[in-house]
Parts: sequence; structure tokens; C-alpha cells
Amino acid sequence: MSDLFLREARGEATERRPVWMMRQAGRYLAEYRAVRAEVDFLTLCRTPDLVAEVTVQPVRLVGVDAAILFADILLVPDALGAGLQFVQGDGPSFRNPVRDRAGIGRLAKPDVGKALGYVFDAIRTTRRALAALPDPVPLIGFAGTPWTLAAYLTQGGGSQTYPHLLAWSYRDPEGLERLLSLITDVTIDYVLGQVEAGAQAIQLFDTWGGLLSEERWRGLAMPHVARILEALAGTGVPRIVFARGSAHLLPALADLPAEVLSIDWTLPLSEARRIAGPGKVLQGNLDPAALLGPVDELERLTARLLEEAAGGPHIVNLGHGIFKQTAPDHARAFVRAVKELGQPR
Ligand code: CP3
Repeated sequence: MSDLFLREARGEATERRPVWMMRQAGRYLAEYRAVRAEVDFLTLCRTPDLVAEVTVQPVRLVGVDAAILFADILLVPDALGAGLQFVQGDGPSFRNPVRDRAGIGRLAKPDVGKALGYVFDAIRTTRRALAALPDPVPLIGFAGTPWTLAAYLTQGGGSQTYPHLLAWSYRDPEGLERLLSLITDVTIDYVLGQVEAGAQAIQLFDTWGGLLSEERWRGLAMPHVARILEALAGTGVPRIVFARGSAHLLPALADLPAEVLSIDWTLPLSEARRIAGPGKVLQGNLDPAALLGPVDELERLTARLLEEAAGGPHIVNLGHGIFKQTAPDHARAFVRAVKELGQPR
């Protein structure tokens, strides 16, 4: 197996920097759209053979150095009883949003092995599919952070501002704390189960932590993220934290027990390195929109990114998920540029 990604994630010296892309399995690939034409999104998530197929697609078709399990962060609140649904064109929503203490009472802590066992099955199937490739790569598992899951759960779906969550955080912080603790307990079982099933690294997605000031993030969101990361410490798998809109949170993120910090595209990695200190591996952070522009410009920006991140361990990635409008050739050009230019660091 190519363990380039795992060695870089542990901060070891490598022959070149590894590259993968957030949301690399998805709608920009015709081969993904062909699978989705046959099944809805949740059925896809619950069918291990199909999960394995779409998880392997970007490894085979784009040449990335790591696979990320095909699943969704919202499967955890679904397992709590929130009733996740994806209505075509509308994005995700919950039939039973939770907006107060009475709402928490309507959730139930599930037996994760039963409620999310289909994810663990999918991991085992995907590991076998990866092992059958000519050049196997490691498999990344993931979960959402409790704050980010609470954002969707309180809103009942997507939003840009999450007024229900923010109102609750000021009105009844102790009540919200109970919801976050419940999500944290389930997430710990979930990520430990993923590692046991074969996930070789875990990434936590904090998509909406950037709604908070650093002081409020440290108080409301961080203790729960820290508890999940600490639970993973004994497994030895690299722990990655991605936080979007989080330049102001970097000093706090650097205090987390995570090996890798994944940075969005708004902060140069040289600056991130200065703030996070030499002990952290950085991941990121090309603007995903750059893949929508011409290839020569994309190559120039990739070279500049590699330059900015020089001087420490670096996993090359985008600053957020790849756009579904991206031409697969441009995704391949990005990966090729890293493979040609990403050495030595
Ligand atoms: O390739 C991969 O990255 C692995 C699979 C993955 C998906 N979602 C598949 C998906 C991962 C890691 C996620 C994480 C996720 N899901 C996040 C955190 C990362 C981020 O983007 O900040 C969030 C916030 C979600 C919640 C979610 N899932 C939304 C808001 C949506 C709708 C918006 C959209 O992009 O369509 C989804 C659906 C979703 N999750 C799709 C995919 C491939 C599109 C579904 C489809 O095929 O129709």
C-alpha cells in the first residue's frame, strides 16, 4: 500500500507531499452520477458495494493519494432519530428538528453498532476494494463536530446563519450543552467503530464553527471536539480537524489534540504555519473555485500553494469541497501538478 498520506499525517519525512480533495467522490464525476441515477443518496450510503464503488472512483479516475469514505456527517443525527431526508434539489432536511430541552427528550441514544452498522460494513467492503487496486491507498473515515451537527439539527436543514442554534446558545447554554454532549457520546462510539472496521485516519468536519468568536468556540464547541479526539488517541490513527471560516479560530484549533489541521482557502498556509506552530501537519488549502479556471492558472496557483506551505509537513487538499461544476480534467491537473511539483518539501 502507498502509505505516503499516513506518513505525512504523522509528520514523518516523505518523498513528496500527498494530495486528496474534500468531496472528491461526487457529482463532478460522470461515473458517480451514473451510480446516483439508479439510487437515492441515502440508499447509496446504506449499500456497502455502492459505497465502495464511489469511494474508489476518485482514486482510480483522478489519482488521489487517499480515499475518503462515502457517507455523510448527517447520518449521526439521523441515528439519533431526527429523520434525515434528502429531497432532490433541496439539500438535506430533518423531519424532527430539535430546538429545546423537550426536543432532546424526543431523541434516543442509539446502539451505534446497530443504527450505523451499515457504515462499518461499508468500510470493510471499501478496504477490500482498495486492496484490490494496483496501487492501494489509505481510507479516511470522518464525522461532523457536535456544534456543526447541532447547527443542522436545530435548523432542520441547511442555512447560512443558523438562528435556531445561536438563539439557543444564548437563551439556554446548559440545555444546548446536553444536546452537544449526547451527540459527542454517539460520535465517539461512531469514530471508534470506524477505526475498528478499518478506517486509517479520522477527519472531523467543523463546517459551522466559524459562526462563533474564538472565545465562544472555546467555550461551546471545543470541549466536545477535544473529547472525541481524546477518545481516538489510543487507536494511533492520525486525527484531522477541518474548520471552515476559521482563520480567527486557529490559535484554539492548534490547542486541540489533533495531528493535522485542515485550513480553508482564506488564510495563506505560511500564515497558518506561523500561528499553529511547528508541531502541526497542515492540510489544504487551494480555493476550490480555482479548479473552475484555466489549467495553466491552476498549475501556477498549485505551485504557489506548495511554496507557501514549504517548511513543514503538508497534505495538499482544497480549502473546502470540490464544486460539482468542476471538469474532471481540472481535478486531474491539480493532482498531477502536486505529483510533479510536490517534492521535496
Ligand atoms: O467525497 C467525500 O468527501 C466523501 C463523502 C462526503 C459527503 N458529504 C458526500 C455528499 C463527506 C465527507 C461529506 C461531509 C459533509 N456533508 C459536510 C461537511 C463538509 C462540508 O462540506 O463542509 C456537510 C456540511 C454535509 C452535509 C450535506 N450533505 C449537505 C449540506 C449536502 C447537500 C449539499 C450538496 O453538496 O449537495 C449533502 C449531500 C452530499 N453529501 C452529497 C455528497 C456527494 C451530494 C448528494 C448527491 O449526490 O445528490
